[in-house]
Amino acid sequence: MTKKLFVKTYGCQMNVYDSDRMTELLAPLGYAAVDTPADADMVILNTCHIREKAADKVYSELGRLRDMRQERNDSGAGDMMIAVAGCVAQAEGAEVFRRAPWVDMVFGPQTYHRLPEMVARAARQGGGVLDTDFPADPKFDELAAPKASGVTAFLTIQEGCDKFCTFCVVPYTRGGEYSRAASQVITEAEALAGQGVREITLLGQNVNAYHGVGSDGSEWGLGRLLRALADIDGLQRIRYTTSHPRDVDDELIAAHRDLDALMPFLHLPVQSGSDRILTAMNRRHSADDYRRIVDRLRTARPDMVLSSDFIVGYPGESDRDFEQTLKLIRDVGFVQAFSFKYSPRPGTPAAADEIQVDEAVKSARLAALQEELLGQQTAFNQSCVGKVMPVLFEKPGRHAGQLVGRTPFLQPLYADMDASHIGDILNIEITTANPNSLSGQLAGPDQERACA
Ligand code: SAH
Ligand code: SF4
Ligand code: F3S
Repeated sequence: MTKKLFVKTYGCQMNVYDSDRMTELLAPLGYAAVDTPADADMVILNTCHIREKAADKVYSELGRLRDMRQERNDSGAGDMMIAVAGCVAQAEGAEVFRRAPWVDMVFGPQTYHRLPEMVARAARQGGGVLDTDFPADPKFDELAAPKASGVTAFLTIQEGCDKFCTFCVVPYTRGGEYSRAASQVITEAEALAGQGVREITLLGQNVNAYHGVGSDGSEWGLGRLLRALADIDGLQRIRYTTSHPRDVDDELIAAHRDLDALMPFLHLPVQSGSDRILTAMNRRHSADDYRRIVDRLRTARPDMVLSSDFIVGYPGESDRDFEQTLKLIRDVGFVQAFSFKYSPRPGTPAAADEIQVDEAVKSARLAALQEELLGQQTAFNQSCVGKVMPVLFEKPGRHAGQLVGRTPFLQPLYADMDASHIGDILNIEITTANPNSLSGQLAGPDQERACA
């Protein structure tokens, strides 16, 4: 009999990738994914520890799951196994059982390939399974080739981080930097392309710190890997995220110059525009270093657009520091961004800093920053109206007869289009711009591509 599995994913795209792998690992045990936890035989929360709010959400969800499990038991529908995976599991370990004793399994991002054994053990001993190791043999060697679930796919090529920015939990939750061998990445990309995937997004906490063993035995950087992936039949678009300014090397810039498949949109978090704050954060680059990198990328690929992450209210951030962040935003120009109030995280150096910024000041700075960024995003979307862009259509849109796809610049685009065009890249004339999406129609044969 099929058992129902509900996986809820928090946090970054690497967790999305991991959740899909967990679902695949449980399929041979008879589990099939469902959309709601209420009647699930197993629920996995794949959690995120990056900010306090993200971690808190997990415990409120666990409270709801306890009630659901009780109702299921009371109604005679059977039991519900509850698992906490991901970065909260790694950071808090056995503490999760203490705060939520009804949880059966707690395991970190590097051990989920052992899931089938863990499930058997939890069933045998009635819960209490904890696995937060950092195994010497990476999980990737154990995982089967992924199943594509559409025309776009994520592919994790690198995990963990050795950079230790003073605000960040990732080096503790994901462990040290690890790069998969190029041949393993290429095989996985070929398998995805063979299943109809047209666009791959390479993932890593610092994806451009990639330094895997190449097919020729030498160490490859991301630029070299991108060249090999661009040769795969059927794979038409490649993206990568998240990158760090310090790891943008000459080879990567050259890849942007040479590879048509590499999309002209880059998420390159800068966090702050103040050198004083960047130093305190241990980012180990200056605001001008960032400006120079962007200039070089734009020289290599003139239509390149940028997105970024920002933190406001880092300990000791003054009005002047914040002004410098606004100045950097105006100088560089971003088409999209994520911005956050600094959230002190247990065990990180910045959390122990005595000069924490007042919550009200953080809120005011976040509002000012977001206004500036939204203005830039809206202006960019507006500038696309009337232009023609190649759009990869991914899935049905909001209403019947409509599809949604992505422009090269990652903007969602809606168009009235037959479902048979899913997976096609078509030239679309942009007719309307909203803050978060575009609409358009099939371009005539004489209209040229021209945007940005
Ligand atoms: N490796 C990436 C970032 C990964 S975390 C990089 O180095 O840029 C994703 C984003 O979460 C970060 O870019 C940062 O903006 C934000 N973030 C991380 N820790 C945070 C904290 N303690 N408080 C607020 N935002 C945080
Ligand atoms: Fe965190 Fe810094 Fe590593 Fe990014 S580079 S994951 S912000 S420690
Ligand atoms: Fe969150 Fe872990 Fe990703 S802390 S952002 S899920 S690496």
